[in-house]
Amino acid sequence: MKKTIAAIVAVLWAFPGLAQAAGNVAAGKAKSAICAGCHGQGGNSTIPSNPILAGQNAAYIVKQLKAFKSGKRKNKVMAGFAASLNDKDMRNVAAYYASRKPIPSRAANIKALLKQGARLYRGGNASSGVSACMSCHGPSGQGIPPLFPRVAGQHASYASAQLKAFKSGARKDPRGMMTKIASRMTHKEIRAVSEFMAGLVKNK
Ligand code: HEC
Ligand code: HEC
Repeated sequence: MKKTIAAIVAVLWAFPGLAQAAGNVAAGKAKSAICAGCHGQGGNSTIPSNPILAGQNAAYIVKQLKAFKSGKRKNKVMAGFAASLNDKDMRNVAAYYASRKPIPSRAANIKALLKQGARLYRGGNASSGVSACMSCHGPSGQGIPPLFPRVAGQHASYASAQLKAFKSGARKDPRGMMTKIASRMTHKEIRAVSEFMAGLVKNK
């Protein structure tokens, strides 16, 4: 413990920028109102192009805001927002975001989704009559020529769009196999199995 503290002190001494005064969470929360439109409530952005700030370390946030302001890190949108903050504002918003909890469900959700997708892919869903995908697309998703296409590593958004198209009838499977299967799948199952297939990488 003593050794750890000594090491931290040594690092702070060597990099004085890291030892900046802590920001004020309440003042930061007020300042962050304009950030929420893009970075989400409490920094839990739901839009993939806008980074999640909840739980990010404060020193890093300050450093990035300064870099946007000076132009060292280039981004037109953030240059404008960073320019509106002085050093104290930056420390305050950084303290606020650092204090927020990142939504834990994100990681848990994807894990659960992949598990559900794997189950469906390998075993189908007996209660709704969805056959195992594996029996036609192969255990590793490599496909079985000439009839059964490869699905391994396909973009999840493409695969799920195709499954929805089979389901709605917008895409017709000449033999009706996928129409029957997809029509029995829920949207959640479609998402789950598509994410799972995207992670299959086996080559031919
Ligand atoms: C109009 C949308 C928008 C608004 C409003 C906005 N940002 Fe951003 N922010 C972005 C985008 C987009 C990026 C990613 C920039 C890039 O790709 O380099 C970003 C990046 C950041 C980063 C870097 C995060 C990282 O992980 O490197 C920080 C910190 C940040 N914003 C803080 C703020 C703060 C604080 C505010 C409010 C004062 C704010 N932003 C307002 C869109 C926005
Ligand atoms: C009985 C065999 C069979 C089973 C079981 C089956 N598929 Fe298919 N699948 C096919 C056939 C055949 C096609 C090609 C249809 C066509 O020619 O348009 C296809 C096409 C697809 C496509 C479109 C591929 C592309 O590149 O456009 C996706 C995605 C797909 N299946 C996913 C699944 C999923 C997910 C499951 C399990 C829930 C599944 N399939 C179960 C036979 C099957």
